[in-house]
Amino acid sequence: MSEIKVRKMISDDLDWIIDLERRAFSDPWPRQSFRETLSEPMSGGLVAEIFSGGQWRRVGYGCYFSGGGETHVTNIAVEPQFRRQSVGRRLLESALARAIADESDLMILEVRSSNRDAIEFYSRQGFHELYRRAAYYDNPREDAIVFARAIKTTQPDNTRNSYDASDADSKKRR
Ligand SMILES: CC(C)(COP(=O)(O)OP(=O)(O)OC[C@H]1O[C@@H](n2cnc3c(N)ncnc32)[C@H](O)[C@@H]1OP(=O)(O)O)[C@@H](O)C(=O)NCCC(=O)NCCS
Repeated sequence: MSEIKVRKMISDDLDWIIDLERRAFSDPWPRQSFRETLSEPMSGGLVAEIFSGGQWRRVGYGCYFSGGGETHVTNIAVEPQFRRQSVGRRLLESALARAIADESDLMILEVRSSNRDAIEFYSRQGFHELYRRAAYYDNPREDAIVFARAIKTTQPDNTRNSYDASDADSKKRR
């Protein structure tokens, strides 16, 4: 298996990220959303690189923000030819490390109800479906499934804590 490393996203990554974002999603984030992710104190981005052909190549990214005891994974995408090589899993593990550092009790995210690959991926990473949000997405109009993963096993009820739907609407997740 190829060597993978995950590092912080920087503004120099944005051209590549926006290109992959447009190929990966039917409702891509605009550049401004990524800029905000990089500039706001409780949010951030991660970039995964693979050592391939004698050099490090960017192959995936993920974004998150923390607040109210929760860390929201807003998007993860991997270059199509590098999928099923554990890049997404490594990005999620790094987001989990960030969530622990931010003292979150819960990781949470939304995914399109038709996105079977992502649903399988998140299910395999310990996420469980909480509920559906009807007609959450545009282009095409579609329900979101809200997935969550508890971080502190000593608090089994924390999937019912301070989730704030208004936060979720500011940056729709996939
Ligand atoms: C979802 C996505 C990020 C997964 O990234 P990835 O690097 O391919 O995932 P990994 O290789 O780390 O997969 C880890 C495990 O998740 C499961 N999994 C991942 N993709 C899967 C798929 N398409 N079908 C079934 N299971 C899948 C598998 O169990 C896999 O382990 P395995 O390959 O040993 O069987 C990637 O498919 C992608 O970029 N999709 C387009 C964008 C998107 O939908 N993002 C998610 C919503 S924000």
